Amino acid sequence: MPQNKIVISEVMMPSQANPNGNVHGGEIMKIMDSAAYAAARKYARSNVVTARVDELEFHMPILIGDLVTCTAEIVFVGHSSMEVAVNVEVEDLDEEGRPQRALSAYFTMVALDRNSRPKSVPPLILDTEEARTAFEEGRLRYEAHKERKKQQREVEKRRADAKKTLREPEN
Ligand SMILES: CC(C)(COP(=O)(O)OP(=O)(O)OC[C@H]1O[C@@H](n2cnc3c(N)ncnc32)[C@H](O)[C@@H]1OP(=O)(O)O)[C@@H](O)C(=O)NCCC(=O)NCCS
Repeated sequence: MPQNKIVISEVMMPSQANPNGNVHGGEIMKIMDSAAYAAARKYARSNVVTARVDELEFHMPILIGDLVTCTAEIVFVGHSSMEVAVNVEVEDLDEEGRPQRALSAYFTMVALDRNSRPKSVPPLILDTEEARTAFEEGRLRYEAHKERKKQQREVEKRRADAKKTLREPEN
């Protein structure tokens, strides 16, 4: 198994589902978060926290007794942040069919030092065309987030300045 990837599997139990047998979305999201945490924790070799979840999609229902397999793979790294592609496949254990894609999302995890401050992570080795493409896509999401955050800060500053002007009107 590569250093940037982990896989976890679990059979869904009645306590995780509604009375009709559908597994709660939050139960699967928790498994996804745990998988993203484990992949990032192993890659960074330090504490990590979830900062963001992008493009979470539920593609098909998951039922009691299904086998859920969650794959978490680091696809992009910034300085202290790592984007983890998390995919969930579901398999009916009573049938011979192939596992099917049930959920997908991108988790942004941030590595922290002993003082809980962001710390840098190693560069990602991109040894396949697929890995290079996934990295580029991750970089676009990373830059879009940075741009949104910058614009948000500017709006907040303008609002604060406007409030200050209202409180301290010029004579
Ligand atoms: C994530 C956290 C550590 C970032 O701290 P910060 O002081 O804002 O740090 P910075 O602004 O220096 O950002 C550090 C990195 O995190 C990334 N980041 C911060 N907030 C982010 C967000 N909302 N989405 C995506 N990335 C984010 C930054 O882009 C930066 O990445 P880079 O180092 O690769 O360039 C802080 O916001 C935090 O602790 N959040 C709560 C996390 C948590 O408790 N999660 C579990 C919830 S129960």
